[in-house]
This record gives sequence, C-alpha cells and structure tokens, in this order.
Amino acid sequence: MIILGIESSCDETAAAIVKDGREVLANVVSSQIKIHEQYGGVVPEIAAREHLNSVNIVIKEAYKQASIIPDKIDAFASTAGPGLTGCLLVGLNAAKALSVVYSKPYIGVNHLSAHVCANFLNSDLTPPFVCLLVSGGHTQVIYVKDYDNQEILASTIDDAVGEVYDKVARLCSIPYPGGVLLDKKAHEGNFRAFNFPEAKVKKDEFSFSGLKTAVLREVKKFEKDNIPKADIAASFQHRIVDTLIKKTKKLSLELNCKTIVLSGGVAANSELRKRLLELQKEGFKTYAPELKYCTDNAAMVASCAYFNPIKTENSMLLEVFSRD
Ligand code: KG4
Ligand code: ZN
Repeated sequence: MIILGIESSCDETAAAIVKDGREVLANVVSSQIKIHEQYGGVVPEIAAREHLNSVNIVIKEAYKQASIIPDKIDAFASTAGPGLTGCLLVGLNAAKALSVVYSKPYIGVNHLSAHVCANFLNSDLTPPFVCLLVSGGHTQVIYVKDYDNQEILASTIDDAVGEVYDKVARLCSIPYPGGVLLDKKAHEGNFRAFNFPEAKVKKDEFSFSGLKTAVLREVKKFEKDNIPKADIAASFQHRIVDTLIKKTKKLSLELNCKTIVLSGGVAANSELRKRLLELQKEGFKTYAPELKYCTDNAAMVASCAYFNPIKTENSMLLEVFSRD
C-alpha cells in the first residue's frame, strides 16, 4: 500500500510517499525557520499562510522524488492534530481534495502517534516497546503494546522538554531554533559546572519548570555579555537527559520490556541519543529515528496512516483538533 502523507501542524510543510508504512519512496520538507527567526518563534498566522504557499510545491516534489504518478497512490493522509488550527487545515484540506480527485481514501493521523511511527521508517522495529516521546509540545513515556494499542506511562505536568530547551536557549541569548543550537553549545561546556536540581515528582510525572527557574536564577548572576552559555547548556542538558533516561529505563524494567525507542524533535539531541545507546550495554534493544525523521516530517505521517490511523466511520468528516 502506497500512501502520500502531508504534515503541516506547526512550522514545517512536508509531503512524503511511503510504501507499507516502512519504505520511504520520497520525503520532502520545507522548513519555515528562516521566516520565523526574525520573530524569535513561530507566528501561527504567518505559518498558516506559508503552508498554503508551499503545500502544492512539496507534494509535486514528492511525486518527482518517488518517480510516481498520482494514480499509483492508494491513500492520502494528513496530520489532523494536535497542532496550530490554521496550519493543520491546510494539510488536511489538501489531502482530502486529493482523495476526492483520485477517488482514494483520506486517512487522518494524530501527530504524536506519527512521531512514534517515525521509528518504523526504514527499520525492522515491531511492538511491544517503550517509547520516550519528546517534542516541542509533549513529553511522554508510552507503552506501545501493538501498532494501534498504546498506553501513556508518564507525562509532564508543566513544560515539554523541547519547550524548556527553547526557553533556556532564549535565557542564554541563543537564537531560534533554540533546542538544536543549545545542544551544540553544550559540547563546548563542562556539565559539572552547575548542579541543577532534579524535580521530585510521582512515578508517572515529569516536571521541568523548576529546572527552568534554576537556570534563570544562575543566568541573572551574570552580565548579559558574560553568561557562561556553554557551561549552563552542558549542565542543563546533562540534568534533563539524565532525568529522561532514568525514568524511561525504570518504567521499561517494571514492564519487563527491554526495547526502548526515542521519538519527537528532541530525539535529535546528541546527548539523549548517546545515553540511549549506552543502554545497550545493559541488555536493552534501542532504536531512534534517523535525524530527518525526528523533527516534523511527512514520512512519519504516511507510516502512521498505515499502522495507526485515527479510527472514524467517515474520515472525510474528520476535523482538525488543536489539543490532544
Ligand atoms: O517534534 P518537533 O519537530 O515539533 C513538535 O511537534 O513540537 O519538535 C520540535 C522541538 C523544538 O522544541 C526544538 O527545539 C527541539 O524539538 N529540538 C531539539 C533538538 N532538535 C530539535 N532539542 C534539543 N536538542 C536538539 N538537537
Ligand atoms: Zn512534532
């Protein structure tokens, strides 16, 4: 089954063509980073307009990359939510229009489930496994019992990990997109320079607002031009990654599930990937998507349409939703 997927939930307009949920035939992403850079973050109205400008271009490019004609597509899929409403509408309406024109089904997809499915792309992973999903809007440990059967084991009670990365980057005057640049900066610093606290929370919770405040308190002790950015970045990154890995490992062991996978934009983080790999020495099997499938993309949408679509009687009546 060949599915064309469209992603437009936030600041990337993407189209991809994937066979049987795993084999990527085309993957096209148009990032809006350059446009939102000047505002220091994503402006929803501008993002939606940019999706409109780009959506047909990325779809055409996907056909070209896959050397395929639209008639050969078996279904058209898009992210239905969660995300920015105006942005989601662009992808959803494009996919529905294509499904009408070519008389093929439309499939709606949940953005978080799609991030999980990024691990199936060009890989042999099969459930059950435990997935640490870390993105700009979410932080969850999910028990994926089967392709369409998942249970949330833990989630954040305040900020998402990506959100904290972006906020701490801003505190340190590291420009947008903060997460990836802070990750780079951390390599130049000493992770023992600052001893940032770990939140005391319940087994099924994460909390990062205290860590954010602790960073702010340290930053305020320095003149703007003298902030020890690299040491703060390294110490912050060490604390947050350690917290994520420890909890994911503990929850996996409790379930006697020894396969752990990463997903979401923060799964591109170098320290998180390194610590995940180290778990192999303790007998865990580990997976992480290729970097291009960690941040928002449409290949994961097409994979999710195959493995874990939103179940509904008439998908053409499916509407976008902003929150999960
Ligand atoms: O999954 P994603 O592309 O969009 C959402 O669904 O939210 O995730 C974006 C988030 C941003 O907060 C970004 O700063 C963060 O992922 N991110 C990173 C890295 N690359 C992207 N955070 C830490 N280290 C990275 N290398
Ligand atoms: Zn995402």
